[in-house]
Amino acid sequence: MNSQPILKIAHLGHSYGKFPVIRDISLEVDRGSLTALIGPNGAGKTTFYNAVSGRFRPTRGQVFFDGREITGMPAHKIVSLGLLRSFQITNIFPNLTVIENVLVPLVLQHGKSCALWRRLQAEDKLYRQAEAVLDKIGILDAAGRPACELAYGDRRRVEMAIVLARQPKLVLLDEPTAGMNPEETEQMVQLIRELAEHFGTTFFLTEHDMRVVFSVAAKIFVLHQGHLLAAGSPQAIRENRRVREAYLGGSTDA
Ligand SMILES: Nc1ncnc2c1ncn2[C@@H]1O[C@H](COP(=O)(O)OP(=O)(O)O)[C@@H](O)[C@H]1O
Ligand SMILES: [Mg+2]
Repeated sequence: MNSQPILKIAHLGHSYGKFPVIRDISLEVDRGSLTALIGPNGAGKTTFYNAVSGRFRPTRGQVFFDGREITGMPAHKIVSLGLLRSFQITNIFPNLTVIENVLVPLVLQHGKSCALWRRLQAEDKLYRQAEAVLDKIGILDAAGRPACELAYGDRRRVEMAIVLARQPKLVLLDEPTAGMNPEETEQMVQLIRELAEHFGTTFFLTEHDMRVVFSVAAKIFVLHQGHLLAAGSPQAIRENRRVREAYLGGSTDA
């Protein structure tokens, strides 16, 4: 088992113009873990993910993925190395069936330049790969239905299937429960937990809702005004006075 962290961030900083939004962030994400980055709105979480996933080059610092420096690499290159960001690449096509939605990026990913017969063979393999993922995610029954017919919770499952079919080493989820009601949030949390267990995928998710994070993450990093304020287990974060003061406004029951 490779014990090297899957993601290592060293002194990452980013400014939009002159205004620094994240400053000197260093952290590591363990393989096979469920890790969270939390912080109030405007703390810099999305900026951090954009810098890590290649949306833009950070103004300072370095990003190492799976032992290799990826700072400033274009996003598609980073994706091809196995670092996927959900909700960046996952636009569901409403009129395609569920399985077609999973297949499209897989087929595109496989060389368009292949000879036709090799491509057909590959497509057959990819079809089976897509079916296996839908099965694991619990929506194989809906494989042939247009995506637009699915209930909200199942559409989120399709998004996850699209990501996981590509067998990523690390998945970044930026506020996966944004815009969800409490019931949908609970379903999403349950799904993330299942996926981490069944697929052994490493997830690094951001959230502004502390309750979501406490129930899924093994390790939590707290971002506050662009600085890393604390890191630790949910228990340690819950009891951290600085976190409470800065993030919870002193409240202890959030
Ligand atoms: N493209 C941008 N240009 C200028 N300022 C930005 C841009 N994106 C975000 N910001 C600012 O950076 C800060 C952090 O934003 P963001 O990373 O979206 O935080 P979070 O995801 O934690 O809510 C905010 O003050 C926001 O207004
Ligand atoms: Mg954000």
